[in-house]
Amino acid sequence: MKFAYRILHPKLAFLLVTKHEDNTNVMTLAWHMPVEYDTIAIAIDRENYSYELLSKSKEFTLNVLSIDNLDVIWKAGTTSGREIDKIKELGIKLEDGVKIGTPHIKNAMAFLECSIEDELKLKEHSLIVAKIVHAWADKRFFKETWLEGCGIPMHVGSVFFTTNSKYISVKKRR
Ligand SMILES: Cc1cc2nc3c(=O)[nH]c(=O)nc-3n(C[C@H](O)[C@H](O)[C@H](O)COP(=O)(O)O)c2cc1C
Repeated sequence: MKFAYRILHPKLAFLLVTKHEDNTNVMTLAWHMPVEYDTIAIAIDRENYSYELLSKSKEFTLNVLSIDNLDVIWKAGTTSGREIDKIKELGIKLEDGVKIGTPHIKNAMAFLECSIEDELKLKEHSLIVAKIVHAWADKRFFKETWLEGCGIPMHVGSVFFTTNSKYISVKKRR
């Protein structure tokens, strides 16, 4: 039962960027789902520094870095912005938001700008429901879907990740 939730994995590992006043932070986030075409939900531990920032600013960005950045993805998910400046230490370059005040990651394969609409407080985590107010994806990697083999990082569980190496179509290809 302890690992039942991992039956839902692999899940795309995002970098969640949060900003409130002069404080900006990044953390890894794999617990997310679409709930409407323009609305998503994320699950975040209320102990996380990122939670403190997004509950004040009411917004965040979700950024996809390629699997080549696994060290950054891992470090952002295993250290806290309360202890170190992860943006600086991980060499993350940020760009100003398009529709919101929270920045996104400059060399991301895609990013979503999200504005918080609702929160459900569970035991340790909060389910945050947010509207996608702006979305961008690099056409080299995403055209209606992620392109086969483009190298998105997917968290399997524990220290294991995988990527989208091979697609299978319901229609036979010629
Ligand atoms: C691959 C991966 C996925 C993660 N997904 C989540 C998640 O969905 N929600 C969450 O609250 N924490 C998740 N974490 C843990 C946070 O990233 C971690 O607690 C981080 O240190 C919080 O940083 P902060 O205190 O700077 O916000 C994940 C960690 C890893 C490595």
